[in-house]
Amino acid sequence: MLKIGDIEMKNPVVLAPMAGVCNSAFRLTVKEFGAGLVCAEMVSDKGIVYKNEKTMNMLYIDEREKPLSLQIFGGERETLVEAAKFVDQNTNADIIDINMGCPVPKITKCDAGAKWLLDPNKIYEMVSAVVAEVEKPVTVKMRMGWDEEHIYAVKNAQAVERAGGKAVSLHGRTRVQMYEGKANWDIIREVKQSVNIPIIGNGDVQTPQDAKRMLDETGVDGVMIGRAALGDPWMIYRTVQYLETGKLMGEPSVREKMDVCILHLDRLIALKNEDIAVREMRKHAAWYLKGVRGNARVRNAINECNTREHLVSLLTDLVIEVEEKEQSQAIVG
Ligand SMILES: Cc1cc2nc3c(=O)[nH]c(=O)nc-3n(C[C@H](O)[C@H](O)[C@H](O)COP(=O)(O)O)c2cc1C
Repeated sequence: MLKIGDIEMKNPVVLAPMAGVCNSAFRLTVKEFGAGLVCAEMVSDKGIVYKNEKTMNMLYIDEREKPLSLQIFGGERETLVEAAKFVDQNTNADIIDINMGCPVPKITKCDAGAKWLLDPNKIYEMVSAVVAEVEKPVTVKMRMGWDEEHIYAVKNAQAVERAGGKAVSLHGRTRVQMYEGKANWDIIREVKQSVNIPIIGNGDVQTPQDAKRMLDETGVDGVMIGRAALGDPWMIYRTVQYLETGKLMGEPSVREKMDVCILHLDRLIALKNEDIAVREMRKHAAWYLKGVRGNARVRNAINECNTREHLVSLLTDLVIEVEEKEQSQAIVG
């Protein structure tokens, strides 16, 4: 069973941290679909230290989401430690995670995110400094290396362990790969065999069967799912069920998908406000609509949507349209 410090997860299925996606509205929804652990989107250490209003709002956690891991990023020791202390003392997060994987230049230019992957000594120093100042378990999420010539995943994970880190999530890609190519699960297995702390494997888990294969082939303690859960919390539910029973549950109906999309929208409105939530929800709605017949026309309309009422009417009209088509096909058939 996946256990990080004293925190025990009820299953090994973990929702990946995703910026612009994993706020409380989405996390709670995914939690209700059975995730063992949900991770919050990355938060800037400096934003926390300077009490930036938008950053402070990102620290909101609903009790029902727990256990939850809150991720911070930064490149300087002082602000990283300050931010970790703030999260430790002022939020109900269960785990403090440090980002060592973000590949975007805006982040790596500040010596944050994936930049750390080039220097196991820095990882050791930074993680030790954070661990010394907080009560909550500290974990790290990293990529396997900077580029093909600099794959220090084993050394880096060992540095986290020596520094007192309680787990590592490992995305089997380099920084240079961004999201291209295939995730390397061999490295994940190698890292798992090189440390005693739990390892959560990540990268290219697209189906419940992939999740089982990752657990079986690499021996990891947990399996982290990112893009496959976008607009598809059922992916999490189906994975948990498959791992527990070996049975593959069916895909949701269009009505079920749109009902959850509207629930997600309403949670986002409660969290932010209608204007911001509806605009943010446009990308989520497109993800919920993936695979639904006739979705292109509705997606275009959704991109012009500014109110809850309009968005909900587009989604409910689509459900009626799809169900009518299915009924008439059943009659013809
Ligand atoms: C939209 C998006 C935002 C992401 N934001 C973060 C983030 O804030 N912190 C992080 O550690 N990784 C982030 N990632 C990386 C994911 O957590 C994960 O490592 C990656 O998507 C690979 O897993 P997957 O193949 O299951 O999607 C993000 C990925 C996506 C697609």
